[in-house]
Amino acid sequence: MGLGFGHLLGIQRLAYFGGVVFAVIIVLQYLEFRYGDVISSLFSASKIHITYGASSNGSNYSTENATTTLILPQNRLNSNMSDTYKSASNSVRNFTKSESSSRDIFPSANLSDVTEVHSKKRTVKVVSVSEMRDILAHNRASHLMKPLWASRADWELLNAKMQIENASFTKDDHNLYPSVFHNISMFRRSYELMEKTLKVYIYKEGEKPIFHRPEAVMKGIYASEGWFMMQMKSSKIFITKKPKQAHLFYIPYSSKLLKATLSPNSYDRESVVPYLKNYIDMISGRYNFWNRTGGSDHFLVACHDWAPDETARFMGTCIRAICNTDIQKSGFELGKDVSLPETNVRYPQNPLQNLGGKPPSKRPVFAFFAGKMHGYLRPILLRHWENKDPEMKIFKRLPKVKDDKNYTDFMKNSKFCICAKGSEVNSPRVVEAIFYECVPVIISDNFVPPFFEVLDWESFAVFVPEKDIPDLKTILLSIPKKRYLQMHQRVKEVQQHFLWHVKPVKYDMFHMILHSIWYTRVARVK
Ligand SMILES: *[C@@H]1O[C@H](CO)[C@@H](O)[C@H](O)[C@H]1NC(C)=O
Ligand SMILES: *[C@@H]1O[C@H](CO)[C@@H](O)[C@H](O)[C@H]1NC(C)=O
Ligand SMILES: *[C@@H]1O[C@H](CO)[C@@H](O)[C@H](O)[C@H]1NC(C)=O
Ligand SMILES: *[C@@H]1O[C@H](CO)[C@@H](O)[C@H](O)[C@H]1NC(C)=O
Ligand SMILES: *[C@@H]1O[C@H](CO)[C@@H](O)[C@H](O)[C@H]1NC(C)=O
Ligand SMILES: *[C@@H]1O[C@H](CO)[C@@H](O)[C@H](O)[C@H]1NC(C)=O
Ligand SMILES: *[C@@H]1O[C@H](CO)[C@@H](O)[C@H](O)[C@H]1NC(C)=O
Ligand SMILES: *[C@@H]1O[C@H](CO)[C@@H](O)[C@H](O)[C@H]1NC(C)=O
Ligand SMILES: *[C@@H]1O[C@H](CO)[C@@H](O)[C@H](O)[C@H]1NC(C)=O
Ligand SMILES: *[C@@H]1O[C@H](CO)[C@@H](O)[C@H](O)[C@H]1NC(C)=O
Repeated sequence: MGLGFGHLLGIQRLAYFGGVVFAVIIVLQYLEFRYGDVISSLFSASKIHITYGASSNGSNYSTENATTTLILPQNRLNSNMSDTYKSASNSVRNFTKSESSSRDIFPSANLSDVTEVHSKKRTVKVVSVSEMRDILAHNRASHLMKPLWASRADWELLNAKMQIENASFTKDDHNLYPSVFHNISMFRRSYELMEKTLKVYIYKEGEKPIFHRPEAVMKGIYASEGWFMMQMKSSKIFITKKPKQAHLFYIPYSSKLLKATLSPNSYDRESVVPYLKNYIDMISGRYNFWNRTGGSDHFLVACHDWAPDETARFMGTCIRAICNTDIQKSGFELGKDVSLPETNVRYPQNPLQNLGGKPPSKRPVFAFFAGKMHGYLRPILLRHWENKDPEMKIFKRLPKVKDDKNYTDFMKNSKFCICAKGSEVNSPRVVEAIFYECVPVIISDNFVPPFFEVLDWESFAVFVPEKDIPDLKTILLSIPKKRYLQMHQRVKEVQQHFLWHVKPVKYDMFHMILHSIWYTRVARVK
């Protein structure tokens, strides 16, 4: 392919990193958020209390025991390069009493170069993908819901839960690819049971345009919430008009229209909260469904950046399917909340238009990124890679042309598509890369990728820690050609799960989102 696969780091460079990286530890008293609020993170023994500042002074959200781990930078000395990319960081260490002050353990660490990303703008604990899986497993096993009284729906879910956990054997389904799933048997059984069992009740309350108006959100980067609502409302099999039969209750609002309607010119996320609170007060006063479970069998599907914050307090018990999934923010809880894919829908009449890309051997561009300079990370990416290396096509926003042709051509012709976080952890590039069959390279610490509970993301995407931007090319070059080809193949295999169809089809994005919510509901039943 002429692009130097298999290139490895020199020994000296390894040694250099070993020396520097080892010494660094990331525990800081002050964490600065994008919107300028300060989070103070107080560590005591194994308990971490994080207080989340909201965007106004009105209130704050807090999560106890959000995570009890301390992250060390990746240990490059002990891992060969094929390991290096494989897991963004396996070096998660549990936080113990004796380590309660990082500065005492590594007093002479020179933080300035290695933690450039962190020291510049934002310093948070980084949760690796493998640690996210541990948290998910732990939460699924322990965060069970306790309804005030049991319903028939609960018993049906309990039965489904046992069958899923016992899903040792299922016959092959040639439309599914086991290698992109963590456990294909469990997924298949769960999906089948969803088709057979699941009934969703959609609240009729709520005024347009904020509620019940999916047709206004079918295009652009928040379109996931519009497409989901549209397809949920028109579903023949998953809806019930009898709330007593429902396993799930859908709160059919659009986070995009909420902001656009109530707070079009403001950055004050708190401003939209009372509207949602009133809604919850209304439905919980009128019916007893909310009170039965404290809202935990209710769900929302919201893609706007504000969605996590606006729902954190009064809808925080719901299953929140949101695009902006920062595991360290807004009370995002793995095993309760789910990651909604952000999709940039360009052609609502035909969302599959322009699908696909070149085979690996016909992708002349090694790595590609283009985008606006939102957030702190992209300027760092550009500083290291813009016009630095002919194989690294890293740009600011490309000139606007019809159909974004320049941009989509790059995606179809690149081996790796860089998905660098913008203002928030999520970016439509992740799904775009899959759409154009380009291996996604996710640079966004603490981002929980879509369908995380079932897909094996590390089998088809590369996760590069933000601090490793200077080594981006080296990390990508260290992926052996054989491994790259396998990842590319898997991107194609997983693609069907990230497609909208005008009429939903089995295993497509609509069904996968619904499945994430179902799977979460099932796991939490007691
Ligand atoms: C937040 O608090 C600061 C300082 O206490 C004050 O200057 C600012 O006006 C407040 N903002 C709002 C939106 O209340
Ligand atoms: C935020 O939480 C802290 C700690 O619980 C509390 O002291 C403070 O008063 C809260 N701020 C507001 C505005 O509720
Ligand atoms: C946090 O941990 C303490 C002690 O380990 C426990 O008592 C408490 O219930 C936990 N809080 C949450 C919200 O999990
Ligand atoms: C790198 O690690 C992998 C997995 O641990 C192992 O299979 C492989 O042989 C190692 N390669 C080298 C060159 O040590
Ligand atoms: C961290 O602690 C948990 C529970 O105490 C344990 O299951 C896990 O193996 C530990 N992880 C590491 C990396 O030591
Ligand atoms: C830390 O590293 C920076 C950049 O490499 C350097 O300028 C500075 O002198 C170093 N500080 C110490 C204490 O070694
Ligand atoms: C689990 O599978 C075993 C073996 O197929 C079966 O005997 C058992 O009844 C199953 N349990 C449940 C709860 O379905
Ligand atoms: C998948 O899950 C089932 C049910 O828990 C389990 O029996 C099976 O061993 C798992 N398969 C793999 C490959 O982990
Ligand atoms: C649900 O609980 C709220 C708060 O306790 C209460 O105001 C409301 O009347 C309850 N709803 C019903 C239907 O009883
Ligand atoms: C596409 O982008 C490349 C890189 O910025 C630029 O050289 C080229 O002129 C662009 N083409 C169009 C049609 O904008």
